[in-house]
Amino acid sequence: MPVITASAPGKIILLGEHAVVYDRPALAIPVHQVQAKVSVMADIRAPNGRVRLEAPDIQLSVDLTGLPADHPLALAVNGTLQAVGVEKPPALTLLIRSSVPVAAGLGSGAAVSVALIRALAAFLGSPLGDEQVNALAYRVEQRLHGTPSGIDNTVITYTRPIFFQRSTGFEPLAVSAPLTFLIADTGVKSPTREAVETVRRDWERDPRRSEALFDEIGTIVRQARAALEQGQQETLANLMNANQRALRDLNVSSPELDRLVDAALQAGAWSAKLSGGGRGGNMVALVDPARAEQIAAALRAAGAVRTIITHLQPDAAAQGVEHD
Ligand code: PMV
Repeated sequence: MPVITASAPGKIILLGEHAVVYDRPALAIPVHQVQAKVSVMADIRAPNGRVRLEAPDIQLSVDLTGLPADHPLALAVNGTLQAVGVEKPPALTLLIRSSVPVAAGLGSGAAVSVALIRALAAFLGSPLGDEQVNALAYRVEQRLHGTPSGIDNTVITYTRPIFFQRSTGFEPLAVSAPLTFLIADTGVKSPTREAVETVRRDWERDPRRSEALFDEIGTIVRQARAALEQGQQETLANLMNANQRALRDLNVSSPELDRLVDAALQAGAWSAKLSGGGRGGNMVALVDPARAEQIAAALRAAGAVRTIITHLQPDAAAQGVEHD
């Protein structure tokens, strides 16, 4: 019996987080340096229908029936079985591995879901198209985050830079010049759900103020899209910095994030801002590739627990399903 493996990258939001939940646009790119990888293999000795989940990174080793029905992994498996029309699969084991840090704004949940859905559907002989994979992964995100915009599952499913808006879906981003981003992790775990809830509470208290900030962020994102498409690096940097100021006003930055943002700018980054839910997790800086290592070292000295340098090429390669 073959082993089917699928992988999915992490992601980073370049601009527009939080406002994207309120139907403003956002930009996101895949981050290939971190990956979720799911392998599916047949258990010839086990009875039909037995699905075993092994996720050594999180010390999980369990039968599907031992997970609550609304567990994200159970939702991903059951959603896939339903989508491919298989009620009782042959006995199988899903081996789930991921180097995407959890609760850090790098899309760990969506990466695992996308890899799992792709691998399981392919194993059962019915590989799913991107649209179906994306819809299933979104359902899992809803369980994890409550009111996700859908940007994480979309950028990870399609594995390309995207301009995303909730009501209109996504458009591929036509990046015209290579760019280098430096991602640095504060080490502070910050579940997206909680950050989204605090923004929601502020919005309920003072909708006019929040809406004005969302509008400002929406305008920044549209201008940033044009800057990316026209290769205007300096404009993009200024817009990222403006986005960070608006995110601070939304109360989703934190002392640790501010410290890393300041350290990046002081070390020569062109721009720096938090990325994702905020209140911890990661920041992202636009940097001169020749200085990326040096700025990364400055960020580690300022307290970053992990730094990733990622290059955005005009034509990012897509990820596929491997058979071995
Ligand atoms: O924390 P992350 O990177 O998973 O992203 C959250 C992005 C938000 O805009 C805050 C929420 C969302 O669903 O888009």
